[in-house]
Amino acid sequence: MAQIRLDKYLADSGIGTRSQVKQYIRKGMVAVNGTTVTSGDQKIHSESDIVLFQGKVIAREDYVYYMLHKPAGYVSATSDNISPTVISLIQDTTHSDLFPVGRLDKDTEGLLLITNDGELAHRLLSPKKHVDKTYYVEVDSVIPEIAYETFANGMDIGEDKLTLPAKLELLSPQSAHLTIQEGKFHQVKRMFHGIGCEVTYLKRIQMGNLVLDSDLPPGAYRSLTAQELDTLLH
Ligand code: URA
Repeated sequence: MAQIRLDKYLADSGIGTRSQVKQYIRKGMVAVNGTTVTSGDQKIHSESDIVLFQGKVIAREDYVYYMLHKPAGYVSATSDNISPTVISLIQDTTHSDLFPVGRLDKDTEGLLLITNDGELAHRLLSPKKHVDKTYYVEVDSVIPEIAYETFANGMDIGEDKLTLPAKLELLSPQSAHLTIQEGKFHQVKRMFHGIGCEVTYLKRIQMGNLVLDSDLPPGAYRSLTAQELDTLLH
């Protein structure tokens, strides 16, 4: 039977972050099978042990994590009156609470995480966390030399602040990998527009440590591996 650390079980159930949960445990607010516990290191049997937080039974959430290769033509939303949504591509009838972690434009392809784990989504999207996102970009004209410096220094795209430093890797005169730390509306398109190029094709290939599986064609998805999930969660 699967064993899991008590602090992880409680954090997964949504009662708090891992460090908040550790404090709750230290304060004696958690009991397992009727006995108050003082260490989050303790392992429990998630299927059979009864975990109480302030006297209430805590059920662990049933989280799922899918890597989707988003095709063009789909909107990154759970419902839409006009266009098909990325959620409609996921054949999972047991989880009705799935949502995309962040947004890709309707015409953008590539890596999109689909989950029902709100805490993970919050962490990955938090502007303070600066999670790197790498895009493959094709543009309509030669990328000028100044692009490296402009993107690295941060540029004015009409927001209150300059963009955070971004890294450009040229692949050909009109294609590149661009790694940005934020997710402002149309950010990549606006950055290239700012140096005189229009984006003609855009695909996200990496988010944090999570790399788009090259075996997934557009429209296909799979569950994250245990290792992928581990690097995302920690
Ligand atoms: N930047 C864009 O311009 N569009 C996307 O879909 C993602 C990043």
